Amino acid sequence: MEAIARDLKLSLDPVAFAKELGFNPDSWQAKVLMWFGNRILLNCSRQTGKSTTAAILALHKAIYKPDSLILLVSPSLRQSSELFRKVTDLLNRLTVRPRKVEDNRLSCTFENKSRIVSLPSSEATIRGFSGANLIIEDESSRVPDELYRAIRPMLAVSGGELILMSTPFGKRGHFFEEWDKGENWEKVKITAYECPRISEEFLEEERASLGDWWYRQEYECEFVEPVDSVFGYELVMGMLSRDVKPLFEEE
Ligand SMILES: Nc1ncnc2c1ncn2[C@@H]1O[C@H](COP(=O)(O)OP(=O)(O)OP(=O)(O)O)[C@@H](O)[C@H]1O
Ligand SMILES: [Mg+2]
Repeated sequence: MEAIARDLKLSLDPVAFAKELGFNPDSWQAKVLMWFGNRILLNCSRQTGKSTTAAILALHKAIYKPDSLILLVSPSLRQSSELFRKVTDLLNRLTVRPRKVEDNRLSCTFENKSRIVSLPSSEATIRGFSGANLIIEDESSRVPDELYRAIRPMLAVSGGELILMSTPFGKRGHFFEEWDKGENWEKVKITAYECPRISEEFLEEERASLGDWWYRQEYECEFVEPVDSVFGYELVMGMLSRDVKPLFEEE
């Protein structure tokens, strides 16, 4: 009876589930774990715990929502499989584990028919999947836009959830565009200063070693212009504005 009550609590409370896995979630992580919407953007500094949070969510859904399809996407198959490994490492922390009926380096299926699959980064090879309940795109700012466009329709019928998470990589690509102008997204920004596990001394050393441009991007979550960009994003967008009168009117 006690075991059933505990399991029920874990199924309803992903934060309690995270604690069961040995994590005491930071407040933003708890918010993401408890969030009920369908679209979330995590613009978070390096090492703040994006992948861990997403891996906990993936595992929670796989265990407590039978027949779920969970897809892990990233700029390369190696990176997707890294995230998948995070999920399986977490699974191994559970004292009572759900049984797997299929298990390999890139995917697994549980007895309740839920599947977690790491996808390659080629748009052509992922088209077979549909009806995803959760898609997690890791290192989103470096995922090709064609791949992003190919995964979105997989949510059409299922009404599933989509999580994009990354540090910025310039003012370009779908991660920036969704962050800048996307509607219907819950947007979460967490700089390195907000992470209790990253020390001030480490950040000072990083700023000195990486230089300002990389540092602002990696630790302060800023979408900075590529260093070699001749015209800035605002300047180009300003040139497209209808409010700006042309210098020379057409005859
Ligand atoms: N709430 C937490 N409590 C303790 N450790 C945590 C917590 N969240 C994450 N960590 C640890 O912090 C480290 C970084 O986590 P993770 O890899 O998830 O970060 P990330 O934001 O995805 O990093 P990167 O930008 O390098 O991909 C890992 O060792 C992870 O176990
Ligand atoms: Mg990560």
